[in-house]
Formats: sequence, structure tokens, C-alpha cells
Amino acid sequence: MNTFSQESPAALVEKSALRHIAFIMDGNGRWANARMLPREAGHKAGADTFKKIVRYCCSIGIRYCTVYAFSTENWNRPKAEVDAIMRLLDKFVREADDEKEIEFHFIGDRTPLAKDMCAHLEKLENDTRGRPYVLNIALNYGGRGEIVQAVNACLAEGKTQITKEDLTRHLYTAHCPDPDLVVRTGKELRISNYLLWQSAYAEYYFSDKMWPDLTPDDIDEMVRSFAGRKRRWGGLDKA
Ligand code: FPP
Repeated sequence: MNTFSQESPAALVEKSALRHIAFIMDGNGRWANARMLPREAGHKAGADTFKKIVRYCCSIGIRYCTVYAFSTENWNRPKAEVDAIMRLLDKFVREADDEKEIEFHFIGDRTPLAKDMCAHLEKLENDTRGRPYVLNIALNYGGRGEIVQAVNACLAEGKTQITKEDLTRHLYTAHCPDPDLVVRTGKELRISNYLLWQSAYAEYYFSDKMWPDLTPDDIDEMVRSFAGRKRRWGGLDKA
């Protein structure tokens, strides 16, 4: 039991300086299987949960959220499933006008995405600049690919030696601080090529719940867990 547990989630977010939470939304397929539904239904339920969870994180003062919506490896899934996820994303982007407080960023390689979709992503990003909360949606994202493209961007600037700062400047997440807390649902204990550079000093939280089942109460528990941890950044306790 940690000493912060009586405080509100918003107070704990503030006190523990939890600025950025990043989610691996795993378990949609198993959630659907357990209900004898097609995997696509799991992604649909996952998209609904995503909206609720992001809104809740904003409501307790977490300024930056990142979600892993589609990895560079997810193209290996059956076409029907890939198409279903892309349709959900497209629908979400078209309806995202409802979110008045969120600044949107799509992080990842857009090259293989449909032109129409890219135009919508860009418009949403441009129309929402300067809002109080930031949501990064990782789409056709892979951490290793991101680092390689950042190195190539440095080379294109004519650099022959690079610093950590040079590389960070060219990451897809250059506009936000590193994640403080990385959460993976779905009972798997791996990071799946997610925010590899940015998570060097992140705290991790693994939940046995399937993503569509996640609730604000679970977020409160994650916040309590985070607030009870001692981050040392490779150093020693101040005491
Ligand atoms: C991982 O679960 C989830 C994905 C690969 C897709 C995540 C997509 C969504 C939540 C919907 C679209 C998102 C937005 C932002 C509108 P899995 O399918 O690998 O689950 P499993 O391990 O149980 O099979």
C-alpha cells in the first residue's frame, strides 16, 4: 500500500509529474474470440475504449497520450483485418472534430497509406495545433524504423557525427516529452518495437485485462502505481 493512495488521481498525476502515458492496446482479438465474435469486432470495441480512455486521461491532467494503433508489422495480418483497422482509423479521423481540446499527431511512416487518408491526417493535425492536450496515434509505426529515419534525416542535413539531441529532434515525437509510463494490456510482457528510444527511462505497467475491457478505474490504479515508484534515472535516491 503506498502513501499516496487516498489522494485523487488528478492530484497524483500532478504530484508525480506524470505528463506522458503511452499505451500498447493489446488484446482486441482475444476479447472478440472469447465472445465468439470476429476479430474486427474486437478492434471496434478497442476503438471505443480508446476514445474513453484518452478522454479520461485528459480529464485527470495527463497532458500527453500516445497509442499504438497500427505497427509496421501489422501489415502481415489478413487483409480483411488490416482493412477493418484502417476503416476504424479513417472513421475516427473524420469524426475527431468532436474533440475540442486535443491536438492530434500521427506518428509513423505515411508512405504506404492511401492519399485520401494522408490528406485527412494532415488536415486534422493542422486544424488542432495549440490545444491543451496532445494525442499521438502511432500508425504504421515501428521504433527501429523511426530511429533509422531519424539518423537518415541527420545525414541529409550533412552531419557526419550526431548527438542524442540531433536524433531526438528528428523522431516522430519531437514535439513531446518522453513517456513517463508505458502501459501494455493483453497479458503479454513485451514492448513490440514501441517507442524504443523514448522509453529509455519510462516506467512500465502490464495489465492482464484485454484492451476493450480497460476502464478509468484501471487508469486510476496505474496512476497510483506510478506515483508510488521511485524514479532514479540511473542515479541514487535523494534521501
Ligand atoms: C492489438 O490487439 C491491437 C491492434 C493491432 C490494433 C489496435 C487498434 C484499435 C484499438 C482500433 C483502431 C484505433 C483507433 C485509434 C481508432 P490484437 O489484435 O493483437 O489482440 P490479440 O493479441 O488478442 O490478437
